[in-house]
Amino acid sequence: MTEETQATQTRGRMIRGWMARFYDAMSWVCSLGGEAKTNREIIERAGIKSGERVLDVGCGTGAQTVPAAEVAGSGNVAGIDPSPDMLERARQKAAKKGLDIDFRSAAIEKVPFDDQQFNVVLNSFMLHHLPDDVMRAGFAEIHRVLQHGGRLLAVDFTSGRSLIGRVMGFLGHAHKLDGLNSIKSMLAEAGFSTVEELPSKQGHVFFLRAEKRG
Ligand SMILES: C[S@@+](CC[C@H](N)C(=O)[O-])C[C@H]1O[C@@H](n2cnc3c(N)ncnc32)[C@H](O)[C@@H]1O
Repeated sequence: MTEETQATQTRGRMIRGWMARFYDAMSWVCSLGGEAKTNREIIERAGIKSGERVLDVGCGTGAQTVPAAEVAGSGNVAGIDPSPDMLERARQKAAKKGLDIDFRSAAIEKVPFDDQQFNVVLNSFMLHHLPDDVMRAGFAEIHRVLQHGGRLLAVDFTSGRSLIGRVMGFLGHAHKLDGLNSIKSMLAEAGFSTVEELPSKQGHVFFLRAEKRG
């Protein structure tokens, strides 16, 4: 088995096999066709500028990594995920657009980059895949690889504010409101100086922006 087909060890719930093959189609159906709009919103809210270095943690098939590279520029963006099957799809999508993105098989709890390499870290729809201790370790890693003045945008589902959220919570894909509060506390414990929840038009999606003091 080559490195490319081997999954990175993690206690996070990774997506593999047929689920990875159909992930983009399932996302499209589950979001009623709105996932491209949400991904654009994530890039806008992260405030990514041309030339900034961006890391997408839990990048999956590159749903946010590819649009991030379109803004930050080819060669400025990296994505990590422990699932080789998701990464394979992500690489295909980047190649189709002629974008050079540094996709690596790795997990949030052991980010394979030196300290202070990135201006922005994206983390979308993956925290609900992690046990709390892995999440805590992951936030410390994100803080480590961010430059001073850098920012994290963490986006995920919450069950506490809408019917769709409650359904997602029932399916195990959403954080309860106390879980969301605990994520904010963990970010502060990891060293982030400001942790701010941005307004969301979709009751079942939260956007957390956390800054590393400059
Ligand atoms: C629901 S997908 C989200 C992917 C992408 N960000 C998106 O929005 O389409 C969650 C991803 O988290 C990945 N994952 C699971 N455990 C992880 C870990 N410990 N570190 C990083 N990613 C992990 C899974 O393999 C999967 O690709």
